[in-house]
Amino acid sequence: MKQLIILSLIVLLSSGYTQPNAGDPIYKDKNAPIEDRVKDLVGRMTLEEKILQLNQSTYGINTNVNNIGEETKFIPPGIGSLIFFSHDPVLRNVVQKKAMTESRLGIPILFGFDVIHGFRTVYPISLAQACSWNPALVTKACEVAAKEAAQSGIDWTFSPMIDVSRDPRWGRVAECYGEDPYTNAIFGVATVNGYQGKNLADPYSIAACLKHFVGYGRSEGGRDYQSTDISTQSLWETYLVPYEACIKAGASSVMSAFNDISGVPATSNHYLLTEVLKNKWKHDGFVVSDWDAIEQLTYQGVAADRKEAGYKAFTAGVEMDMKDSIYAEFMSQLIDEKKISIGQINDAVSRVLRIKFRLGLFDNPYTTVEDEKDRYLQKESIQIAAKLAAETMVLLKNEKQTLPINNSYKKIALIGPMAMDKANLLGAWSYNGKATDVETIREGLEKELKNKATIQYAKGCDFDGNDSSGFDSALQVAKSSDIILVCLGEKNEWSGENATRSTISLPAIQEKLVNELAKTGKPIVLILSNGRPLELARLEPLANAIVEIWQPGIAGGSAVAGILSGSINPSGKLAMTFPLTTGQIPVYYNQRQSARPFKKQGLYQDISSKPLYWFGHGLSYTTYQYGDVKLSATKIKRTDKLTAEVEVTNTGAMAGAETVLWYISDPVCSISRPIKELKYFEKKELTKGGKTVFTFTIDPIRDLSYVNSTGDPILESGEFFVLVNNQKIKFELVD
Ligand code: NOJ
Repeated sequence: MKQLIILSLIVLLSSGYTQPNAGDPIYKDKNAPIEDRVKDLVGRMTLEEKILQLNQSTYGINTNVNNIGEETKFIPPGIGSLIFFSHDPVLRNVVQKKAMTESRLGIPILFGFDVIHGFRTVYPISLAQACSWNPALVTKACEVAAKEAAQSGIDWTFSPMIDVSRDPRWGRVAECYGEDPYTNAIFGVATVNGYQGKNLADPYSIAACLKHFVGYGRSEGGRDYQSTDISTQSLWETYLVPYEACIKAGASSVMSAFNDISGVPATSNHYLLTEVLKNKWKHDGFVVSDWDAIEQLTYQGVAADRKEAGYKAFTAGVEMDMKDSIYAEFMSQLIDEKKISIGQINDAVSRVLRIKFRLGLFDNPYTTVEDEKDRYLQKESIQIAAKLAAETMVLLKNEKQTLPINNSYKKIALIGPMAMDKANLLGAWSYNGKATDVETIREGLEKELKNKATIQYAKGCDFDGNDSSGFDSALQVAKSSDIILVCLGEKNEWSGENATRSTISLPAIQEKLVNELAKTGKPIVLILSNGRPLELARLEPLANAIVEIWQPGIAGGSAVAGILSGSINPSGKLAMTFPLTTGQIPVYYNQRQSARPFKKQGLYQDISSKPLYWFGHGLSYTTYQYGDVKLSATKIKRTDKLTAEVEVTNTGAMAGAETVLWYISDPVCSISRPIKELKYFEKKELTKGGKTVFTFTIDPIRDLSYVNSTGDPILESGEFFVLVNNQKIKFELVD
């Protein structure tokens, strides 16, 4: 600690950045255009300096108070980037000082980290965020995350993850925005906007990194790091869609994925990284490999050794080597052997430096040190987290209006391993989150129902294992109550990286607990916190109501309490289908048409072929009545726009928010198209008795075309349908 204080004093006493003087190089002139600064700087760099810029190492992992700053001496001052595991800006400034003063040209280090769903103010996991259908709110939450991260010394986050996934066994579905390409695109863009703000150089903006480019979500069997077999058609119409949208939105960087795409690893995929990303989409930022993914090319069977792996990754278009030091070790040899040209190195270095300049790092390399209490968990940040948590929760079932809890329920049994849990509500990838910041479901309920009902708690059982010794006390509590709230779910480490499950049901002990409780005949409400869709085939029939609360972050307790009591009207809708059983996977709404879409053809013989809850499912405490959809025309030309309108009335007893999901279907086309595809959505608040018109403006190229195998839109004339709620309206595109 003493050492750290001394180091920070040195930083504070000697000002790091000196104003450029007349005659200073262009790259030091903050008024010069960024491209001129990049060119000038690259022109001054030695080959060794350039190569170092292409490497990323780690820093701040050591938490031993006796020698926290120790690591600094092992960091070369000219390193391009560090993954910053600490949240201490002082520590960042210490190593940044080294870069600014000890590297010959004073090039700042870029500090990256996984800020995934919040920094210290942890908000719901990405899959949950998509269920809010409120991208503007997600942008606000990401602004909070960016600010907290920036105040903690981070310039760059490895987020958003926009890997479309249709396999809930895969642990990383928690990190994406569900099964639909359009939804991933919209929430990906909302996230990028939140992090990057209006100007990357603002002190509280951080650079985004789109990951994992591409197809990672298609992992075979849902097993992490597996091969993915993806046709060029699916690649373009499904997996690349959100990336293209986020690149257009100005995302600064991209992370290549671990998987191979039909045999060609993403990390050495020239077609994707160079032809598509850089040439076709004109991305001028850089690509970072995933952790050790360059070396992994040797395991994936496309490189004989580390050197060949480095050659393949670099020439495919990976500019920065995350963690495995291959570029540092072999790049100059590869240049001597004329396998890599100086021109290629210059382009790669320019891309990295461009982002550093855009972030304003050359002009403001240090983080202003603020007190933790002024950085984290600010009142408005918690309010955003609470609002987002509430909007992400999905009322899956509500038989005979079991919910909201009404006044006749005076005694409430609160049972289950999630009821008083804190850490698991944070969810996976919440490195800087603290369990102590989390409000439990019980705490939320106690506050919400104060003086209205008595809450009796019993844990019942753990998340897994087979200890049923807690069942008796749970039953006692249940028997003496009017309603039973059962809080079940997954531990946070069951989702995220390398966290595949072979079955997506809850462990048997949790199901057994509900079975026992059901014998009391009391109404049962399941409150589920999990990082993926669950198989609920056995639990659903036992429950009168089910609320999916996902992993809601720090403010989940009050949000769920508000929903249970009715002070909040649920408005979430699923962004990922809940299969009836694991065996139905993959099941997702935008499948292509079957060759025999007739009764009893192609169905499972042993179970229903329908999932339990489709994408888009979500109930409310009020009712919404949809009027007839009105189209501005029934025939349009390619250059026309068609307007579809529907009036929605809140016919129930309470105010609410309704999301209208607009789909398009193209029944006859040169290639078989998905049965329907989401093209637009909008969420609006509706007062009790209120009505409002929702409008979707159909742009033929954007909404009616399909992409060919080189990513170009093909628009074919003919019949189309617009689908909304239960209506399906025909229109025609004519030449
Ligand atoms: C590996 C993960 O796949 C990636 O998502 C993450 O950003 C990096 N590790 C860095 O932690």
